[in-house]
Amino acid sequence: SQSGTEISRVRNINCIRMGRHDVDTWYFSPYPPEFTGLHLVHVCEFCLTPYGSEFQMQRHRQKCRLMHPPGNEIYRHEDLSFFEIDGRRQKTYCRNLCLLSKLFLDHKTLYYDVDPFLFYVMCQTDAHGAHILGYFSKEKDSAENYNLACILTLPQHQRKGYGRLLIAFSYELSKVEGKLGSPEKPLSDLGLLSYRAYWAEAIVERLIRFRGDVTIEEIANATAITPQDVMHTLQSIDALKYYKGQHIICLSNKVVDAYKRAEQKKRRRIHPELLDWKPPI
Ligand code: ACO
Ligand code: ZN
Repeated sequence: SQSGTEISRVRNINCIRMGRHDVDTWYFSPYPPEFTGLHLVHVCEFCLTPYGSEFQMQRHRQKCRLMHPPGNEIYRHEDLSFFEIDGRRQKTYCRNLCLLSKLFLDHKTLYYDVDPFLFYVMCQTDAHGAHILGYFSKEKDSAENYNLACILTLPQHQRKGYGRLLIAFSYELSKVEGKLGSPEKPLSDLGLLSYRAYWAEAIVERLIRFRGDVTIEEIANATAITPQDVMHTLQSIDALKYYKGQHIICLSNKVVDAYKRAEQKKRRRIHPELLDWKPPI
């Protein structure tokens, strides 16, 4: 994260236009100097290249042939797809994605070096192409066993459950790898809220489906959530009790009811059987 010695830099671009959305930015992002101070920056929603004027953007749109992110489609369910993009092979796209996401991420250093990362871009497809909703990045080889480095739902698509799908997808990848994972720290406030909500739901779902004795390790192995994150989540929903000299896991009616209400909302979910992916070697 940014150190205290670094001068904190002010927001340099006010607004970006992507497809039919105008989006106010949140933070500084190191776009090249010709963009700084511009009120509006046009970003091609397919290749993510920035342009300083409407004219340049229109000229680009006549030439840009990209209709989806430049990688393999590894998941599709109805109109929702995930593409895997290798930072080493698609440097320009991945740098543009990092520049774009830095506008909404304060606490992360921007990785100019995109080589060590894979990028998982979630898109919604219509007749015009696969439109980016959000993404997460993942180190190819994480010493700390992080299964996610940076996560973003573009602001125009936030609070519709896509962050939850991105997080769920990151854990599905970990399950295929046969690993337990956790996101890179520190988390932003919004990141923490979303992860807490996801963890509680995934763990409660597991507990409701498999009644009887269950250990933290079993929950961790079934969900790919680390035992530490499982512990903290159980504590946060007040489900760890000390009874006759033993720790037991016990869900209150309140927690179960909240889970059932959420389930009835019929939100989209990830269907693991549709994941067409092997861990890269
Ligand atoms: N206020 C309160 N609760 C929230 C909020 C919010 N603004 N946003 C998410 N939550 C919680 C809620 O419990 C929500 O469930 P609900 O809508 O059923 O109540 C749950 O998180 C999931 O919300 P989603 O709609 O699935 O999340 P969204 O698509 O908005 O994406 C994300 C969440 C990715 C964190 C988004 O806010 C974002 O991109 N923020 C900017 C970038 C950022 O901070 N990323 C995380 C950095 S940490 C890291 O990268 C490791
Ligand atoms: Zn383009």
